[in-house]
Amino acid sequence: MKGLLLAGGTGSRLRPLTYTGAKQLIPVANRPILFYAVDAMVASGIHDIGVIVGDTKDEVMHALGDGGQFGANITYIPQSAPLGLAHAVKSAREFLGDDPFLMFLGDNLLRGGLGTLVERFQAGDYAASILLTAVDDPRQFGVAVLENDRVVRLVEKPKEPPSNLALVGAYCFQPVIHDAIAQLKPSWRGEYEITDAIQCLIDWNLNVDSTRVEGWWKDTGRPEDVLEANRLVLEDLATRIEGQVDGESRITGRVVIEPGAEVVRSDIRGPVTIAGGARIEDSYIGPYTAVGPQVVIRRTEIENSVILADSNIEDIQERIDQSLIGRGVRVAGGRRRPRGLRLVLGDQSRIDV
Ligand code: TTP
Repeated sequence: MKGLLLAGGTGSRLRPLTYTGAKQLIPVANRPILFYAVDAMVASGIHDIGVIVGDTKDEVMHALGDGGQFGANITYIPQSAPLGLAHAVKSAREFLGDDPFLMFLGDNLLRGGLGTLVERFQAGDYAASILLTAVDDPRQFGVAVLENDRVVRLVEKPKEPPSNLALVGAYCFQPVIHDAIAQLKPSWRGEYEITDAIQCLIDWNLNVDSTRVEGWWKDTGRPEDVLEANRLVLEDLATRIEGQVDGESRITGRVVIEPGAEVVRSDIRGPVTIAGGARIEDSYIGPYTAVGPQVVIRRTEIENSVILADSNIEDIQERIDQSLIGRGVRVAGGRRRPRGLRLVLGDQSRIDV
């Protein structure tokens, strides 16, 4: 069985971070989201992985390489434009050949992995198998209607949801899916929808099976989702202190301090992870925070936040909370007169003061 990992797309909801990088490479707990996806595929027994790439191709290729670091063999597949998940499958037609395959969205995280979905699909006689989870507001999702575990109908973003079972970003397919995709027309939003292709299989009386998510599932499409994913992954953190911590600092709870990081006169309350080369001085770093490589934080309190590499945060009077801070950002406070905010913000930045 082959794997198809989707790392193209536009990432418009994560601007401005996605102006300069792939959304799938935004780190949670200091590791790119996409790395967890490759690990999950390999853990489910799939090693031959095609990665769909778009405008951020170079960065994705640089991060994943040939896949050797994950025990995978990666082939890169350019998608001419982000025209939908079914279009991504079409772009990979040659790579997929006549093999069954697992498709997974590169910005999704699954605590329970992909193993059960793949095992059920391989053990049964199904044209497709999809992964479902119960959600509070199904109107924003593709929604499935089941008879036992068999899918009898799919509706994309229904106004009146027929169930609360939403499709999450993992699907197993037999090669017959290519016939269904060949018949598709673009949807109202101009995309080739994978849900329409699966509905086509159902209309052809083929078996479509479903499996429920084990543990949590997180789609990291929006900034608040990245913070939530970071929180969920940090819940599983095991303490490891390999950087330098001076005698005046206090570390409580589960904390990772990577080699080369330095903590001076600071209070760190886990779960927190601090990457190599980071420097924390006279600061408080509170629960659910990931501090990236070479970040400098001085005289500042921060929690529930993700700070990417090379950023500098100093002398902030109020506590920074629930914040997603990109690479090479400078946030500085102080007692300048006259008091006021001086801002140099990129397009579509967001700040709440
Ligand atoms: P989405 O989050 O649905 O789309 P997007 O990345 O364009 O983001 P936004 O809505 O904020 O503009 O995509 C889900 C995943 O699939 C994501 O990892 C990107 C990937 N993808 C492709 O590789 N090709 C595509 O044509 C599309 C639509 C998505």
